Amino acid sequence: MRKRLRKNLSAVLSSEELGKVYNSFDIVGDIAIIRLPSASSVVAQTAADAIMSRHKDVKTVLLQASPVSGDLRLRRLTHITGQNKTRTVHREFGCSFSVDVTKCYFSPRLSHERMRIATRVEPDETVVNMFAGVGCFSIMIAKHAKPRKVFSIDVSPVAIQFMQENIQLNRVYSKVIPLLGDSKELIHNRLQRVADRVLMPLPEKTIEYLPCALSALKASGGWIHYYDFEHAKKTESLVDKAKSKVAEALRVLGINFGAPLIHVVRSTGPNWFQFVADVYVM
Ligand SMILES: C[S@@+](CC[C@H](N)C(=O)[O-])C[C@H]1O[C@@H](n2cnc3c(N)ncnc32)[C@H](O)[C@@H]1O
Repeated sequence: MRKRLRKNLSAVLSSEELGKVYNSFDIVGDIAIIRLPSASSVVAQTAADAIMSRHKDVKTVLLQASPVSGDLRLRRLTHITGQNKTRTVHREFGCSFSVDVTKCYFSPRLSHERMRIATRVEPDETVVNMFAGVGCFSIMIAKHAKPRKVFSIDVSPVAIQFMQENIQLNRVYSKVIPLLGDSKELIHNRLQRVADRVLMPLPEKTIEYLPCALSALKASGGWIHYYDFEHAKKTESLVDKAKSKVAEALRVLGINFGAPLIHVVRSTGPNWFQFVADVYVM
């Protein structure tokens, strides 16, 4: 499909702009979200028509008009074609996620990472998800593993509202516990030494919130899933750079830990990557 999109756009974009189009749209439920180097209405309409003609399930095409930014990780989206709506239900690995794409963060590109984490969770674990959004990681864990509880924190009241709806949709009532507030405060006041596993899926805050994540782990130890970005030229090893970065952050805090296991989550720009380190803390 991306080849066909590029072919349609070759009539309205320069070859340099066309080079940036690859990988430039996501489908969330029945909404397609496109990112384009040139935001002219002709280009946007051509791209939207190409997507709608190929993906019959897509009912709406939106253009991403700003980068994802701010604490709530939101972006500005403008309507191009189809139904004028921003709310949808996205399905992945047997889970359904209701989301308003202008009011909450959601990325279908994390679906395999969500499933990967779910497969790591052992029966009866207590999990703390520090940046839970509409509940995607938490619900995947509740559906595909057998956790005791997944405490799921988000500072956005709207994200928590959608999380509550998603808990109902996926029937994980007693497993996923939504908590509204700053994860540092909530962990400090209510979740000290309770967790076998802590998820930190907000790379922009991982370093700052690491001491707090560690304080949520049981005294006997547990896993931290530490998300971050790293730059690596073709001549460098991303895994080695990421491993040293995480090890240094833990060493500074005087923590005993096993060798961080690094996984590349996705590429985020030329030579930039989002990675996750799975670290066992003793
Ligand atoms: C990148 S999103 C995570 C999305 C989610 N894990 C997923 O898979 O869709 C980060 C989330 O962290 C929330 N957030 C930002 N700062 C926070 C804080 N201090 N405490 C709790 N949640 C926070 C945002 O509202 C946002 O929903």
